[in-house]
Amino acid sequence: MVSFSVLPWSRLCRWLVVCAAILSLAACSVPALDQSLGYHMVSPSPDGIGKVYMGREIAQTMGHRGAAWLDRPSRMLQERPIAAIQGLDLAPDAVVADIGAGTGYFASRLARRLPEGRVLAVDIQPEMLALMQQELDRQGITNVEPVLGQVDDPNLPPNSIDLALMVDAYHEFAYPYEMMQGIVQALKPGGRVVLAEYRAENPLIMIKRLHKMSQTQVKAEMAAVGLEWLKTENFLPQQHLLFFQKPDATK
Ligand SMILES: C[S@@+](CC[C@H](N)C(=O)[O-])C[C@H]1O[C@@H](n2cnc3c(N)ncnc32)[C@H](O)[C@@H]1O
Repeated sequence: MVSFSVLPWSRLCRWLVVCAAILSLAACSVPALDQSLGYHMVSPSPDGIGKVYMGREIAQTMGHRGAAWLDRPSRMLQERPIAAIQGLDLAPDAVVADIGAGTGYFASRLARRLPEGRVLAVDIQPEMLALMQQELDRQGITNVEPVLGQVDDPNLPPNSIDLALMVDAYHEFAYPYEMMQGIVQALKPGGRVVLAEYRAENPLIMIKRLHKMSQTQVKAEMAAVGLEWLKTENFLPQQHLLFFQKPDATK
């Protein structure tokens, strides 16, 4: 236990300087919580991080140790990835960013649908990107580029993508406002954003509460970064596909 009464002044000053340095380093490495953006903290629920954005608690990030779950065979029926991708109505030369791509379950299927196009597969976990690259190599897919993102930045070049897809991922972005700002910047004018999220409106869908999102919530969060809602598709068994567009300022 440190007792100030017995510390000589020089040691006390050194001790205070070290504490101040540690505190300022911590403040630099973690982006501050900006309440003006709609964030506040609560006591975390079992699957949440305790950070609330526009009334929604953000879910914990799925760790790479659980990656096998993303490639489970039952997902073909549960999420119908091929039907979901067909529903995106992509040109064969489109540039698509799969944000929160995980092991590339969607990125590899998108790549096959874009013979003259490209997929930028963004994730914050290098381990996920390594698993993805292994699978891409195994399948001989060459038009997917893994991109290491940051929690608050997808690290994509401006005006470079036609569509940003987020499947079962957006609800766990710890900095959703900042991420969406980065995505909007990366979209070409008129480019689209599509979110696939489990339908929170249906209590019979047996998915953790924080892993579902309602249409009202998604629309409010996308409107906060200036995206315009285009349509919502409900042809998947348990998820809705919500389509948004970056306004084209030249029109
Ligand atoms: C539940 S997994 C879904 C993976 C993939 N979309 C799929 O459907 O198979 C969510 C992924 O989002 C990633 N993620 C979380 N926050 C992210 C962020 N800010 N930027 C990019 N990826 C993020 C996680 O690392 C994780 O791999």
